[in-house]
Amino acid sequence: MRRKLVVGNWKMHGSRAAIAELLAGLQRQLPPLSGTDVAICPPFVYLAWVSERMPEKVVLGAQNVACETQGAFTGEVAAPMLQDMGCHYVIVGHSERRSLFGETDAQVSRKVELALKHGLTPIVCVGETLAQREAGETLAVIGAQLDAVRGFNGIVVAYEPVWAIGTGRTATPDQAQEVHAFIRGRLDVTETQILYGGSVKADNAAELFTRPDIDGALVGGASLNADEFAAICRAAE
Ligand code: PGA
Repeated sequence: MRRKLVVGNWKMHGSRAAIAELLAGLQRQLPPLSGTDVAICPPFVYLAWVSERMPEKVVLGAQNVACETQGAFTGEVAAPMLQDMGCHYVIVGHSERRSLFGETDAQVSRKVELALKHGLTPIVCVGETLAQREAGETLAVIGAQLDAVRGFNGIVVAYEPVWAIGTGRTATPDQAQEVHAFIRGRLDVTETQILYGGSVKADNAAELFTRPDIDGALVGGASLNADEFAAICRAAE
C-alpha cells in the first residue's frame, strides 16, 4: 500500500513575516497523519530559517538543485548542501524550470542522479502543454520526459499538465488518472508515488485522491494558505 504525499511548492513567494504566519497556521491546523507524508519547499534563501521552525511531522524540500556538486557555479545550490540543511525532497524539472530557464531532460536526469546520490528524494515533474494535449501528444510527451529518468529507484513523479498550473483549471480526476496509469506502466515500479499537480485546492483534492493511481499532490498557490493546505492534507489522509 503506497503512502500518500502532499508537497507544498511555495515557488518565489514569502517573507519571514509571511512564512512565520503560514508555519504557525500549519502547526495549528494540520490533522494527525498516519498514512500521509507532508513536505514544504520554500525558496532556497529561507530553507535554514524554515528548518528551525518546522511544524511537527512536516519535512523540508527544495525547489531545484544544481547539476554539479561543488565549484565555480555562481548562483547554484548543490545536492550535498541541501542534504546538509536537512532537506528530504527536491523538486526537479518543474515546468517553470523547463520553459523559463531552458532545463532539458538531460539536466533533469543529472539532477535526479545527484539528488539520489546525496540522500534526497527527487520529485520529478512531467506534463504536457495545452497545444500538445490538443494535438493528441500527451502520452508521447510524458513518455519522453519519463525516459530521461528511467532506471532510477526511489524517485517520486509529479504529473503537472502545464495548462493546469496556476490557471485554476484542474485536470479532471479521470484525465489525471489516465496519465497516472500510463506513468505507472511506463516506470514499471508499482511502489513509485505519483502526485498530481495543477490548481489543486481544498475543494478538488478529495475527488482526485479517490483515483487508484493518484498518490497525493504537488500544490503551488494553495500551499501558501494554511487552511487550504491543511484541508488538502486531510483529504489525502
Ligand atoms: P498551482 O501550482 O497549484 O499553483 O497550480 C502547482 C505547481 O506548479 O507545482
